[in-house]
Amino acid sequence: MGLKDALTGAFLFGGLALGASTFSPARPPAIPLAVKAPYLNTWLDAGSDGGNGGYLAGQWPVFWQQQVTAWTGLIQVDGATYQWMGAVPNTQNVDQTEFSYTSTRSNFVMNVGGKVEMNITFLSPVTPNDLKRQSLTFSYLDVGVHSLDGAEHDVQLYADVSGEWASGDLGAVIEWDYGTSDGVAYHTFHRQSQTEISETRELPNWGDFYWSTGNTDGLTFQSGSDVDVRGAFKNKGVLANTKDTNFRAVNSNWPVFGFAKNLGSISSNSVNTLFTIGLTQDNAIQLLGEGSGLTTYPSLWKSYFSSDLDAVTWFYNDYSTAAGLATSLDNQVASDSIAAAGQDYLTITSLSVRQTFGALQFTGTDSDPVVFLKEISSNSDIQTVDVIFPAIPLILYTNPKLLDYLLKPLFLNQENGHYPNTNAIHDLGTFPLAKGYPDGTDEPQPLEECGNMIIMVLAYAQRTKDTDYLNQHYEILTKWAGYLIDESLIPADQISTDDFAGSLANQTNLAIKGIIGLRAMADISNLTGHADDATNYLNTANSYIKQWQELGINSAANPPHTTLSYGDGASHGLLYNLYANSLLGFGYDFVPQSVYDMQSSFYPTVALKYCVPLDTRHTYSKTDWQLWAAAIASEETRNDFISRIANWINVTPTNRAFTDLYDCASGDYPGITFTARPVVGGHFALLALP
Ligand SMILES: *[C@@H]1O[C@H](CO)[C@@H](O)[C@H](O)[C@H]1NC(C)=O
Ligand SMILES: *[C@@H]1O[C@H](CO)[C@@H](O)[C@H](O)[C@H]1NC(C)=O
Ligand SMILES: *[C@@H]1O[C@H](CO)[C@@H](O)[C@H](O)[C@H]1NC(C)=O
Repeated sequence: MGLKDALTGAFLFGGLALGASTFSPARPPAIPLAVKAPYLNTWLDAGSDGGNGGYLAGQWPVFWQQQVTAWTGLIQVDGATYQWMGAVPNTQNVDQTEFSYTSTRSNFVMNVGGKVEMNITFLSPVTPNDLKRQSLTFSYLDVGVHSLDGAEHDVQLYADVSGEWASGDLGAVIEWDYGTSDGVAYHTFHRQSQTEISETRELPNWGDFYWSTGNTDGLTFQSGSDVDVRGAFKNKGVLANTKDTNFRAVNSNWPVFGFAKNLGSISSNSVNTLFTIGLTQDNAIQLLGEGSGLTTYPSLWKSYFSSDLDAVTWFYNDYSTAAGLATSLDNQVASDSIAAAGQDYLTITSLSVRQTFGALQFTGTDSDPVVFLKEISSNSDIQTVDVIFPAIPLILYTNPKLLDYLLKPLFLNQENGHYPNTNAIHDLGTFPLAKGYPDGTDEPQPLEECGNMIIMVLAYAQRTKDTDYLNQHYEILTKWAGYLIDESLIPADQISTDDFAGSLANQTNLAIKGIIGLRAMADISNLTGHADDATNYLNTANSYIKQWQELGINSAANPPHTTLSYGDGASHGLLYNLYANSLLGFGYDFVPQSVYDMQSSFYPTVALKYCVPLDTRHTYSKTDWQLWAAAIASEETRNDFISRIANWINVTPTNRAFTDLYDCASGDYPGITFTARPVVGGHFALLALP
């Protein structure tokens, strides 16, 4: 063996890389494979902390929390078997030559024995303006094969999934079946014991998985143990068309669900085979909202489809339309990101779209949609206000209406009297059970969430011109604004959204959020015809922002900067909440340009190799908040933030889905392992500004 190159994972022989893949625009920490919803969230670990450098063959795909979701791809070319996905023992891997990603796709190009080339596309649709398509928790896998050397080759293609997709408890018994409908062949499997609205190790204890392909000539299928089904293909190139009838635990002779397709003679024309994987659940969430008990919310797809099979076959047959819509979104993100700040920015934004939408659960009905958010790795809270807040740039950029659907559960819970505190709630419980905190014992981030709610409500209303919405919620908004009047200028000792960084009194960045919240409340009052309220909020906000500049700026420092907390002149931190002032269009009328310019000049002076630290307490930082700060900085400072993050994506040893938190010196996890969180929607900060 040669030396392993840290960056590409390729083996070097005398300086020549053999079997090395290109990675474009970067080799991400983990590659999204099927990332559509909280329970369909499968990745390929890539970074060196536990990944193999971004090679599809030779390593199992994993659910975001790292349970293997075995997904196998084999191919026979002129009788020789190769593996293109997964880690089946004693199987030769194809040579990966290219990897690339867009907002919705991960593409691999494989050289198989110098004879054929495979073009493998994982497409997880994101359709923010098309709720019917967005409501389906399914993802596509398209495999194209063509001759590489001009000769014709005899080719058979194989793919399977294991029962691991369906249960966080590997000892749980699963059941399965096989069928055909409307041109689609499918394996379906589920836990024998179904318990709605509950999870084991982040995976649902209810619902049915469907793994499908086209029901065409040359297709064979088989369910059975991993060794038997994969062995059958390796030996014969076909499967037995049989169903294993011995329902058993996921980890008992590992049941797998295989398809084999005889592609016949392959020439230079690509022959494509489409697979889909996904999950149907009739009910999705329970919420303490209207009334005194929990309300069960159906999955939104139920509004559009009469049955599971109807949804499964429709999704399968929708591929060409879905692919076209995906290309439109890919192109939109690409052209807007490049126009805003160049390729490095696109490297970041295009890796953030599936991850953000992959944390959202679409529920309710077509006429009354409700979107629930799972915080994912940071303890999987549901509807966390300060996790929705950083994500809003992508929401506002794609479809502001989604913000209404996301805030709805929070209003339903609090406006129906289920929360006793005067401040806005932090979250609604643990996904998928939004039972709220009738006793008021949520994680206390009172100033954070009051500011967040008011800012988000105005951002939504500005973009949709929905003043009715402001009227509807005016009463509770004034309650939260009252809290800001009392508490925002001199913040008590408390945590902010960056709770892992510790609690502190007089946080400069937290104070300005509250003060911008008051400025926002003046506009909300004005828009709803509450002229006296508007004057009061505006006068208070103007007075506070002047005092804040005295309290929170160290103007004697060289260069001057805002402090982490009042009076601690040596301290500093990212003043990311200033972004809200620009997002809401208040601009320099409210916060003087000198504050923007000062921070913009200051940040590069404290940058470490991979980022600008969040504050003086630690050497780590967050990608979302850095891009919030970057979006309102000078071009030079903005590009400095962006190039450090884009470079980090390409070289980080972190191996799980895009962590928003990492160490600025080592590029590694800072002892806290965040992954797959929707806050990466904040990377669209430049594109959400008015
Ligand atoms: C692979 O397929 C994608 C999608 O069909 C296409 O855009 C791309 O050009 C193909 N790449 C190669 C190398 O064939
Ligand atoms: C917070 O700042 C105010 C204004 O400077 C000061 O009076 C107060 O003592 C500070 N509180 C703490 C806990 O340091
Ligand atoms: C209310 O809006 C009007 C019209 O935009 C503006 O002239 C006025 O200054 C606003 N008042 C307050 C208190 O914001």
